[in-house]
Amino acid sequence: MSPQEPVAAVVLAAGLGKRMKSELPKVLHRADGAPLLWHVLESVATLAPERIVVVIGHKGDQVKSALSAPEYRSAPWAKSLVFVTQSEPLGSGDAAKCALKELGGFVGSVLICAGDAPLLRPESLQALRECFHKEQASLALLTAKLNQPGAYGRIVRDSNTHKVTAIKEARDCASHELLIDEVNTGTYLVDSAFLKPALEGLKNDNSQKEYYLTDIVERAAKEGQTVVGLPLMDSSESLGVNTPAELAQIEALLRARRLTKLAMEGVTFADPSTVLIEPGCRIAAGCKIGPNVQILANSNIAAGVTIEGCAWISNSSIGAGTHLKLGVRIEDSQVGSDCLVGPFAHLRPGSQLGDDVKIGNFVETKKAVFEKGAKASHLSYIGDAFVGAEANIGAGTITCNYDGYQKYVTKIGAGAFIGSNTSLIAPVEIGAGATVGASSAIAKNVEPDALAVTRAPQVNKPGWSKARREKAAKKAK
Ligand code: UD1
Ligand code: CA
Repeated sequence: MSPQEPVAAVVLAAGLGKRMKSELPKVLHRADGAPLLWHVLESVATLAPERIVVVIGHKGDQVKSALSAPEYRSAPWAKSLVFVTQSEPLGSGDAAKCALKELGGFVGSVLICAGDAPLLRPESLQALRECFHKEQASLALLTAKLNQPGAYGRIVRDSNTHKVTAIKEARDCASHELLIDEVNTGTYLVDSAFLKPALEGLKNDNSQKEYYLTDIVERAAKEGQTVVGLPLMDSSESLGVNTPAELAQIEALLRARRLTKLAMEGVTFADPSTVLIEPGCRIAAGCKIGPNVQILANSNIAAGVTIEGCAWISNSSIGAGTHLKLGVRIEDSQVGSDCLVGPFAHLRPGSQLGDDVKIGNFVETKKAVFEKGAKASHLSYIGDAFVGAEANIGAGTITCNYDGYQKYVTKIGAGAFIGSNTSLIAPVEIGAGATVGASSAIAKNVEPDALAVTRAPQVNKPGWSKARREKAAKKAK
């Protein structure tokens, strides 16, 4: 046998999952943005199996259609996936036996694992495979040392040779066997020649009257076949989901694992426990991420971006070196390099900021293009707008883009200066290099380089205030 020997995989996903107390099949519960079964398939696919047989049962059609959804069509496992139905949940051994007919005449090693244990890493499967070949085993399995082995099956080893002789389910264990802290993770690599007769020979003479897959271990040991138990380096990989509480625990571990990977790649987190980064988002090296940050829906954060904290970023890209100050919400938008955004800024869908753009506090943008170096530094709404390079939008400027019936576009030319508290009543166009006086209500186009101002002329009345005060004081006497 060589490591190149063909592999087939069997993923068991037909259990009832009663303890989830949910209508949804257990393996379709989501952790870290994807169904539990998706996580398992991603790991299994790294062994490049010829075939992956998923054994479904209870509400199996739902499982099948969920995993056949268009979003998974290009997944590394999609082409090798086949489903087989276990008509009655007679135990993990019976489930594995159901897969035999889909394995057909397959010769090689068969990976068997559970669809509800999403933490198992590709590296561990690789290690199992190497160990299987090195030891020329008929059966190799991943084990875990747990402080609280609870309901897991116990690994029974020969006291002299230390070889695995059997797996005993917790409920079938004598009290001294319950003290064993090495447990079965439910992940096995089995020689196809041994597997078939072993599964066919299973009996259900146990407390649950189930066909236990784990009984093939004792059979192999008794036949004098080589059985190896490989302890996981990280026991948490063995955790399976049986209850909603375990699902929450696994969610936290999967998230933490991705953040740790990003940290190894050079991303700094001030408070990782408060950061949510969905799978599929990319964060480049040199980014600094503060507390309470959510990065969602395939967002892309380029190198050296600083996110101070309290940020919600969805389906958006942020260019290199940009600084997102405290409190930003960015949705379906693109932000260029070296921009300054926030504090407290809201980029709504369709906002496109070029490089070196500044969007300051309490500024809301929507379907708005800002070309390089344009600025809206304070208290503005810029919607359905085009803002040319280096244009400066004064505090309190509002694009009046909606007349109650329709939306209209505002265009502001390059280098234009919009005075504070201006209303730009769309559709309207301000030419390049033009100036708009503060407090104007602009409803007509302004030609390039012109000044437009709509303020009423100012009237100053000397002594007016003093006279009024004196009059009021007299009345009060
Ligand atoms: C099983 C192992 C136990 C191990 C634990 C690890 C057996 C007998 N015991 O226990 O040694 O420590 O996993 O998580 O295998 N399934 C079916 N059809 C069935 C029954 C189960 O497809 O009729 C599937 C389940 O969907 C699951 C897997 O087999 O993916 C294991 O079944 P489960 O009932 O969760 O077994 P455990 O009691 O957790
Ligand atoms: Ca289980």
